[in-house]
Amino acid sequence: MRPLRASDRVARHAQILSTQMRAMREAMFPPKAQKSLRTFTSLEVARLLGVTDNHLRYMSSNGIGPIPDLSSNGRRAYRLGQVNELRDHFALNPLHEVTRFSHRRLPGEALQVVAVANFKGGSAKTTTSLYLAQYLALQGLRVLAIDLDPQASLSALFGYQPEFDIGPNETLYGAIRYDGERRPMREVVRRTYFDGISLVPGNLELMEFEHETPRAMQDRSKRGRELFFRRVRSAIDEVGDDYDVVVIDCPPQLGFLTVGALNAATGLLVTIHPQMVDLASMSQFLLMTSDLLHVVEEAGGSLDLDFIRYVVTRHDPNDGPETQIVALLRQLFGEDVLGATAWKSTAIANAGLTKQSLYEIDRASVGRTAYDRALASVDGVNLEIFRLMKKVWGR
Ligand SMILES: Nc1ncnc2c1ncn2[C@@H]1O[C@H](COP(=O)(O)OP(=O)(O)O)[C@@H](O)[C@H]1O
Ligand SMILES: [Mg+2]
Repeated sequence: MRPLRASDRVARHAQILSTQMRAMREAMFPPKAQKSLRTFTSLEVARLLGVTDNHLRYMSSNGIGPIPDLSSNGRRAYRLGQVNELRDHFALNPLHEVTRFSHRRLPGEALQVVAVANFKGGSAKTTTSLYLAQYLALQGLRVLAIDLDPQASLSALFGYQPEFDIGPNETLYGAIRYDGERRPMREVVRRTYFDGISLVPGNLELMEFEHETPRAMQDRSKRGRELFFRRVRSAIDEVGDDYDVVVIDCPPQLGFLTVGALNAATGLLVTIHPQMVDLASMSQFLLMTSDLLHVVEEAGGSLDLDFIRYVVTRHDPNDGPETQIVALLRQLFGEDVLGATAWKSTAIANAGLTKQSLYEIDRASVGRTAYDRALASVDGVNLEIFRLMKKVWGR
């Protein structure tokens, strides 16, 4: 029997897998089924807003503010849009300080652009980006999530399958490319099912930017228009007024896209899975990043970040060696390591498979203790990042 050519075999596997994926997807998300965000109990809403449940009950029974749906057991259920209406309602009350209920940026407060990077795959960049975006949206912020990874895991978590739902010129590449097909950023931004979060999805097309950039740098006519590392920022600036925060999920390599993201960023999060091998590759990542940043700086790029933080992810606090590595990181980088760590949790890993985060799933579906512990750890991480941003805003 003639051996199969490797290229044919791989191509066939690609096709088999793609067919299978389509079938699985159609079973899981029938074509008409839109992803939707669950509602929130009044207790959850009270916690989110920092008011009492009684107060919310009083409001809804007196027709003040949005009217929640009543479930069969008489519980009030609020949609996230309604939670934000409540925020607006409270913020308008002259007795309250506006920033107690509305966390949106005020005139003069700069758009926050947070890049999540590390060239180590599996260091939980995408998970960290997703949870941060959702956490901030739950605080009522207007969030733009940008999927800069050609593998498009973040887009998939938002219910967009890169192969089926994201067509040509529908990623950030469309808004940063060098040729005449470049389009306004607004055209590649999509709304998501998650109130307050818009998404610029990714797919393989993003790789084009890595291929085109060296060519564009040679070609003076093109280079003159706009240097490669400014393009991500200018695309963001086109729509910046509509958002409080941009979260960029960077690809797992240090290419031109990542440099563009770093140039656009006001804050950088480097995710670390605390294991020795990951640490070794991280030191390389840092060296290469620093080299690249020098190059960009010399070319006139601005790289003034408000903050750089290392985020420990997928951390098992009961694992001795891991805890030692975290201690080492703190010793080496001090304050630059976030105090909170994202704990390794089956609930988070499973939620990744079902494409629902802890913020979305029903607490009862995973076991309350496991859920609460995992949620507390990611909330801790996100709260610290949120505080850093508020500090930049001078609050
Ligand atoms: N805190 C966590 N606990 C358990 N699994 C996690 C956690 N964070 C991420 N994961 C899982 O680890 C894998 C890699 O995470 P991902 O965010 O995709 O990393 P990256 O984007 O850096 O490649 C995913 O399967 C994800 O569900
Ligand atoms: Mg990823």
